Amino acid sequence: MQNIKNTFHHLVIYWYTKNKRSLPFRNTKDPYKIWLSEVMLQQTKVKTALPYYNNWIKKLPTLESVSQSKLDSLLKLWEGLGYYKRCNNFYKATKLVVSHFNSKIPKEKSRFMSLPGVGDYTASAVLSIAFNKPYPVLDGNVKRVMSRIIGIKTLTKYNIKRINKFLNLVICKKNPGDFNQGLMEIGALICKPYNPVCRKCPINDFCYASKKRNPEAYPVKKKLKLRPHFNVAIAIIWRKNKFYIQKRSVDQMLGGLWEFPGVIVKKGQDPKLALKRKVYKECGVHTKILKNVGFVDHAFSHFTIRLNGYFCVEKKHFLDENENRKWILIKNIKNYSFPKANHKLFNQLELNNWYA
Ligand code: ADE
Repeated sequence: MQNIKNTFHHLVIYWYTKNKRSLPFRNTKDPYKIWLSEVMLQQTKVKTALPYYNNWIKKLPTLESVSQSKLDSLLKLWEGLGYYKRCNNFYKATKLVVSHFNSKIPKEKSRFMSLPGVGDYTASAVLSIAFNKPYPVLDGNVKRVMSRIIGIKTLTKYNIKRINKFLNLVICKKNPGDFNQGLMEIGALICKPYNPVCRKCPINDFCYASKKRNPEAYPVKKKLKLRPHFNVAIAIIWRKNKFYIQKRSVDQMLGGLWEFPGVIVKKGQDPKLALKRKVYKECGVHTKILKNVGFVDHAFSHFTIRLNGYFCVEKKHFLDENENRKWILIKNIKNYSFPKANHKLFNQLELNNWYA
């Protein structure tokens, strides 16, 4: 066992040093930057997160600068990256670090995990990379690599515990950050879900699945679940050359982003009637629907939607502005953060010159 303990982490770290992608958050020990990168990389590919990370750091180089920002401006930087709760939580957490931890990210795991959005994965990743704390990380890539090494077909709680136990044994105590990132990188570049490149893998000699000549079978892939589909009607209410938008509450999905009032249209329902009713209920204004201006389709992780846009006008001017309700000009769309599906609709309306 002593042999595998040392050899395993040496092989991982040596390979990582030679083969790692050069990424900006890998050239720093700044825990704020490492934390931000780990938050952005949750459920998101490196290639997607990278421009967001670079832009964010350019505008907000320190944790204090985030804590002093407005949530609106942070969501603008996050716009398009998805899972907006991450941004909300990160913002709240930076404020708490400033107020409760003297602006220093806590090195102690349970303290760090007391912050919103910081779970076991994020805490282990940041503390190992920034502070050399010997916590293994178990993201999707590492789970796959380790399932193949140990020969695990199903990722049950019990088997995850087995992986954790193994990693706690073999993790490099001197350089746990590179060890963890090495395993993630092996998962991303070599030990891929399909067509893994075993001949290039530094830990191939330890791999049960490779010996069995069937690495793809470990772990068994989940069947893709059918995602429910929703038809949504949205009201683009015009008053002269401005239209009405409202802010979603922060505890909702897409929290803090701006939207048009809308309704899920059930089977057999008249979309226009359903929409008018919803707008009245939500905004207290009777509307006249002028026309349907097209639709866009969008897929979220757990469901898909068809967004049908309807140009409307108020029957009487009832809709007043406040912090969460605005009348805006088309040219000012860029000043607000909208969900991706809305941008798709804006692009389509733009192509049709909006009014045509
Ligand atoms: N995914 C999550 N964290 C990562 C990291 N530090 N490097 C590469 N991919 C990651």
